[in-house]
Amino acid sequence: MKIKACLFDLDGVLVDTAVYHFKAWKKLANTLGFDFTEEQNEQLKGISRIESLNKILDWGKQQKTEEEKISLATQKNDWYVAMINQMTPAEVLNGTVDFLSKVKNAGYLIGLGSASKNSAMILDRTNLTHFFDVIVDGNVVSKSKPDPEVFLKGAELLRVLPQEALVFEDAIAGIEAANRAGMKSVGIGHAEILTEATLVVADLSKLSIAHLHQMDEL
Ligand code: BG6
Ligand code: MG
Repeated sequence: MKIKACLFDLDGVLVDTAVYHFKAWKKLANTLGFDFTEEQNEQLKGISRIESLNKILDWGKQQKTEEEKISLATQKNDWYVAMINQMTPAEVLNGTVDFLSKVKNAGYLIGLGSASKNSAMILDRTNLTHFFDVIVDGNVVSKSKPDPEVFLKGAELLRVLPQEALVFEDAIAGIEAANRAGMKSVGIGHAEILTEATLVVADLSKLSIAHLHQMDEL
């Protein structure tokens, strides 16, 4: 079926914020007296702030009350926001502006499908807001990836069928969400990690409109 809409994840697809998330969570774990690996960090990509904290606390074998968890998540977010507050348009990932411009000029609808509650600030700092016909983020969805809610909502708001939407994702949980939504996906990263994606590329600079046409045939 013909692709009509492109749904982009934000962190790690359009902007390099995945590294800031990692730094802030690592700092939090370190203050609690433990550490976690970059490999474990893959599991945090795409999932909500509180779910990330729960996983990290499990790794560190720490038990916290709900109140303590809220305060820890707030501390992490404060560190994270201090970092993204300094972001500039230079920090968009390779190929982002060029590909979004081509997609828009080719007449595709463009949506954001992110778990982040900080998406508006990031898009603003990096001058990307104007590309989006619709923004679905952590402030509007109740179920975190791999639940398909974020992408199904994006398709619904853009008035396209799930099969007419193509998802761009760097997270294992995000690719699973796309599959569960009945959407094709382009994984951004490594093929050996994003094994369930329809296609995997290193970054958006590797993509052209021809790739979107190829998806119509699959
Ligand atoms: C996702 C990130 O985009 O947003 C996750 O991949 C992050 O790592 C999630 O936990 C929530 O982000 P925020 O900015 O609301 O804490
Ligand atoms: Mg991501």
